[in-house]
Amino acid sequence: MNFYILTLFPEMVSAGLNTSIIGRAAGRGLLSIQTVNIRDYAFNKHQSVDDYPYGGGAGMLMQAEPVYLAYEAVAKSIRNRRREAGEEELEGRKPRVVYLSPQGAVFSQKMAEELAREEDLVFLCGHYEGIDERVLEEVVTDHVSIGDYVLTGGELPAMVMVDTISRLVPGVLHNDTSAESESFQDNLLEHPQYSRPEVWHGKRVPEVLLSGHHANIQKWKREQSILRTRERRPDLLKQCKLTEEERRLLAD
Ligand code: ADE
Repeated sequence: MNFYILTLFPEMVSAGLNTSIIGRAAGRGLLSIQTVNIRDYAFNKHQSVDDYPYGGGAGMLMQAEPVYLAYEAVAKSIRNRRREAGEEELEGRKPRVVYLSPQGAVFSQKMAEELAREEDLVFLCGHYEGIDERVLEEVVTDHVSIGDYVLTGGELPAMVMVDTISRLVPGVLHNDTSAESESFQDNLLEHPQYSRPEVWHGKRVPEVLLSGHHANIQKWKREQSILRTRERRPDLLKQCKLTEEERRLLAD
């Protein structure tokens, strides 16, 4: 999986994504994360990339041309790599380009699963008051928000998305099943978990988890997931497929 991040602050993105699990996966060749500094594509001697908005309004806008040139450089390198790999049917296809913006569709685990099927993903991070609409119309395929609040730029949202998508790439997590039995699987939150010691601050690990009875343990985990989802995220339960018995558990 190849991520390309178009940004005015590449050092912020690199620092955030070169460590821990994602950094190690990149080191192992499972992912590649390339940042592209939009300022490198500025076309004036001051290397400025922003200007006042026509019609007035607060702040500055990122201009279309540097963003377009940065995108073109990435699109060209993707085309070349696909050609060299003999991927003729992919070669002419434009990559998905995600623009991070509070105006986008709200990011979700489901969206992450869908995007994780792409071979290449380009993220465009805005700053100031946004980006000239014309270049967005030409290059962006997906407008995505990470939630109903406003950040100062698209870098943190891009990092959130890269992290979420990366852990779905086979081999990135040590244990491939741990991405399967976790929160948001089936729209349920994950059950509580315990490690040693058996008693801590007077609190015992639930007896069933020590029983070694696999079927009972699975049943307990599922019930705990359902109860926890009802308590913390009742909105999710509406989209969740439950058996008759599980519905009765909720009625109790
Ligand atoms: N840029 C600023 N705020 C944002 C948000 N909530 N999601 C994505 N990009 C953003």
